[in-house]
Amino acid sequence: MIIAVTGTPCTGKTVVSKKIAETLGYRYIDIGEFAEKYNLIIEEDAERETKIVDEKKLKKLLKHEDDVVIDGHYSEIVNSDIVFVLRCPPKILKERLSKKFSPEKVKENLLAEILDSCLISAAENNDNTTVFEIENISTEKTVEKILTLIRNKKIEESIAFKPTCKYLNDENLNLL
Ligand SMILES: Nc1ncnc2c1ncn2[C@@H]1O[C@H](COP(=O)(O)OP(=O)(O)O)[C@@H](O)[C@H]1O
Ligand SMILES: [Mg+2]
Repeated sequence: MIIAVTGTPCTGKTVVSKKIAETLGYRYIDIGEFAEKYNLIIEEDAERETKIVDEKKLKKLLKHEDDVVIDGHYSEIVNSDIVFVLRCPPKILKERLSKKFSPEKVKENLLAEILDSCLISAAENNDNTTVFEIENISTEKTVEKILTLIRNKKIEESIAFKPTCKYLNDENLNLL
């Protein structure tokens, strides 16, 4: 099974993905490291501190993988069996982001989270019934929820049955 874990930076993708891979005995792949290793970076936007990856090549290289957990932004474009989009309430996310990024980058990422950016990308690139949105506040609970969904995929818990824009409100917009 190919499991993709995506989400805005600092939603906890790496911590959660490593735990899932360890529990299932799957290989863990960090998309960023993978892209560097196989020369898949086609552009670097220094101002936005962002690297643009060759999506076509990435897909091709990961096509033959199995029993892996793929961690990272872009993992939603890979042909996976199940996609988890980690979410974090903007107020909590802002604290995590501020420890790592410049104020501009914090703002950009917070806005992306408020506007469901990763969720929309996951929906656009996958069948909605295979995409699950998980609010990651406690790592332990998130890992437990993901493992349960992997073992017993409940379609009605997928994003096909969920409204979007849950973080789009004045309180969160005032964090920007
Ligand atoms: N559930 C959580 N509760 C509190 N802090 C968390 C949680 N998940 C991740 N973190 C912290 O947030 C930061 C970003 O986590 P990380 O897994 O690297 O996120 P990502 O890979 O999505 O950028 C790290 O300092 C991590 O320890
Ligand atoms: Mg990470």
